[in-house]
Amino acid sequence: MNETRAGYTVSIQYDRRLYRQDIAGSIAHARMLARQGIIADDEADAIVGGLRAIQVEIEEGTFRWRPELEDIHMNIERRLFEKIGDTAGRLHTARSRNDQIAVDMRLYTKDLVTEVVEAIGSLQTTLITIAESNFDVVMPGYTHLQRAQPVLFAHHVLAYFEMFDRDCERFRQACKRADVLPLGSGALAGVPYPIDRRYVAEQLGFAEVSANSMDAVADRDFLLDFESAAAICMMHLSRMSEELVLWSSEEFGFIRLSDDYTTGSSIMPQKRNPDFAELARGKTGRIFGHLVALLTTLKGLPLTYNRDMQEDKEGFFDVGDTLLATLRVFADMLLTMRVDAGRTREAAQGGHVLATDIADYLVAKGMPFREAHGVVARLSADAAGQGKRFDELSLETYRGHSDLFGDDVYSITVESSLAARDVPGGTAPGQVRQALSAAKLRLEARRGG
Ligand code: ARG
Repeated sequence: MNETRAGYTVSIQYDRRLYRQDIAGSIAHARMLARQGIIADDEADAIVGGLRAIQVEIEEGTFRWRPELEDIHMNIERRLFEKIGDTAGRLHTARSRNDQIAVDMRLYTKDLVTEVVEAIGSLQTTLITIAESNFDVVMPGYTHLQRAQPVLFAHHVLAYFEMFDRDCERFRQACKRADVLPLGSGALAGVPYPIDRRYVAEQLGFAEVSANSMDAVADRDFLLDFESAAAICMMHLSRMSEELVLWSSEEFGFIRLSDDYTTGSSIMPQKRNPDFAELARGKTGRIFGHLVALLTTLKGLPLTYNRDMQEDKEGFFDVGDTLLATLRVFADMLLTMRVDAGRTREAAQGGHVLATDIADYLVAKGMPFREAHGVVARLSADAAGQGKRFDELSLETYRGHSDLFGDDVYSITVESSLAARDVPGGTAPGQVRQALSAAKLRLEARRGG
């Protein structure tokens, strides 16, 4: 066979990372075959012993991977023959590579979810830490990237806590759908042996056994579930990246990322490029791409297994690796960044961020909100024309726009604005304190349960 043709079908260079799952699945299968009297006990013992020894070889790096054997299943099976002889041939009784690869990918997905949920939890812990240590920091909140209303920095940070909480939920759902044993489906129609699927499910820690053998070998929805959850989670990380890039610019100057997470330019010595945030934003595109690739791979496939499905792996592994790396980088990058509370306050006081509060002031004095909105819009234009902030305008100027204005208009400050938003979910300091405690409890509950 010429080289190009031989290499085309090979997957061992990437599916070898499934060795633990593949061996675990085979051991459970062999034990079940012996329990059911389908193979002899001493045959199962030899198979299990051989598989365990192979795992040690792989982990010690002495296993010789052979591309000509194509995939992880054939590599391990051939080695088992070398180690225990013809008894190895009994392992594949009542099994096919179609239900074997499905069980490997499901086991892998379940482990991956555990790691991802843990990494998200660490990132959320970091968010709580920086929200607490910067609790007094005020900044402008934005809509349309225009300064809108003052908010606590902690409130802004906790918005991300919520996003990651929903991400965890999605990953756990993906895990639930992966938690179904496909083994026992054979090639597609089931197997003509008295197997015990429940026993295998228990051995491997699956909650259920699949209800339809054809679906079980054709289904990769659980990978799509994971990749969709990952795409959404990366989108959140990418939005945060965008803010870090903006905030660390000279224009904003809200934060300073630690030297470990910025790089200089080779020709412009003043630069501190936020490469990690930029790369996270960039890698998000790749993750979205993998999701679309897998959807596209699956969309035209007739039941049941088709070799096209081998193409699920590289993208899936990359999604898991990239997501985990990004979550871990972010936890440390955020923990080591410094917030410039002076700059954020300056921004929160400028830009007529208190306009809504002045309108609310007029409402409190009896003016309908729509009318108050118009008055403050004109006042705002007036202030802009004079190059002044609201608190620098004279009372005459105020009263020129409405005689409802009195001296007490000067008591409208960033602090009064924050304090006024004292509703559940609002940015009043008392509410944000409560939100912080609630966030901690939720995180603990998730780790406990
Ligand atoms: N390497 C294959 C895959 O990942 C394993 C299953 C092969 N099954 C088959 N009938 N050729 O999809």
